[in-house]
Formats: sequence, structure tokens, C-alpha cells
Amino acid sequence: MTTPFRIELLNKEHNRAGFSCGVDVLNVYLREQARQDMQRRAASCYVAVDACTSAIAGYYTISASGIPLTDLPETLIKKLPRYPSVPVALLGRLAVDVGFQGKKIGAALLGNAVQRALASDIAVAALVVNAKDEQARSFYHHYDFLDFGSLPNQLILHFSAYRNAYV
Ligand SMILES: CC(C)(COP(=O)(O)OP(=O)(O)OC[C@H]1O[C@@H](n2cnc3c(N)ncnc32)[C@H](O)[C@@H]1OP(=O)(O)O)[C@@H](O)C(=O)NCCC(=O)NCCS
Repeated sequence: MTTPFRIELLNKEHNRAGFSCGVDVLNVYLREQARQDMQRRAASCYVAVDACTSAIAGYYTISASGIPLTDLPETLIKKLPRYPSVPVALLGRLAVDVGFQGKKIGAALLGNAVQRALASDIAVAALVVNAKDEQARSFYHHYDFLDFGSLPNQLILHFSAYRNAYV
């Protein structure tokens, strides 16, 4: 990130109404649904906040999930125990305000989500996303996510490369 930002849990003091990423459903989610999802423990929402203006520059949501082992490519299956379901963290949404796009905030939010999943006491083997379109899919490919499963736009970042860092 080029200007000073901090990443923190969304709270009621943040100016959610000022956020606009160019995708209405993602703006509405932050404005109307994110806090409710947090209160119901369906997802945690983290925001990147401009340290000078306190504007929300971007956000992501993360929650626990599971995917069938058989959905994964054979190369990943070989690295996993043969339990039917693989525990994963789900990056439900990721968005950057149009005024802040191209300044590595998406990268910083993604990195923060990976670190958070790796640091969790609840073990997860990977970070999974459902990309909303081809452009989003291309963003995740840029960060080494792999396509998986029978549905289009499901991607996975397996944590095997990070294993030695935390065991
Ligand atoms: C996709 C999105 C999150 C990217 O955020 P951003 O802050 O603009 O991206 P960054 O500046 O962090 O880009 C980091 C890197 O990813 C690359 N990148 C950005 N968007 C990309 C795309 N669509 N495809 C491929 N690479 C992309 C950048 O070129 C940069 O590469 P570099 O580090 O090698 O120079 C943002 O454009 C956005 O919010 N779009 C609308 C909502 C959306 O599509 N969300 C996706 C989740 S469903």
C-alpha cells in the first residue's frame, strides 16, 4: 500500500455509506449486511481504513467452511489426509473502493486474510473464493489460486507452502 492504511475489524463508527467499488451488490453488502453477518457470526468483515481520512478503502469477509476432498485436483488431494471434507477459510467478498484501486490495497487485504487464516487456532488447509466474474478470477490467478470443483469460478489457495512457517 502506498499511503498509510490500517486493517481492522469493521465497527459501527466506520463510514460504510461512502464506500463504492463499482459493483453495487458489494457496496450494498458492506452497507446493509456485513454488520449483521458479524453479529450472527456468519462472517467477519475486515476493512482497510485510510489513516488520514478514515475512509474505507476496501474490505473482505472471511468465515469457516468446508469443501469435499473429491472436488480438488489430484495434486492437492495427495497433500491432504483422506477425510471426506477439507476444512477451509472462505473469502466471501473482497472489494476496493474505486478511488483506491490500483494501489495494492486488494493485495494487502488478500495477504491479511491469508495471514489471519494461517494464524487461526482453528486449523484450515486453504483459502477458498468464489470469484464473481472473469476479472476477479484473473486477480486470484495472479496470486496463485487454482481453479477447482465443478462450479465455475471456484478457486483455492492451498497452504502447504506455508506449513513450515507455523508448525
Ligand atoms: C479486484 C480488486 C479487489 C483488486 O484490488 P486493487 O486494490 O485494485 O488491486 P491491487 O492494486 O492490490 O493489485 C495487486 C496486483 O494484482 C494485479 N491485479 C489487479 N486486478 C487484477 C485483475 N483483475 N487481474 C489480474 N491481475 C490483477 C495488479 O496488476 C497488481 O499486480 P502487481 O502487484 O504484480 O503489480 C478491485 O479491483 C475490486 O475491488 N474490484 C471490484 C470488486 C471485485 O471484482 N472483487 C473481486 C472479488 S469477487
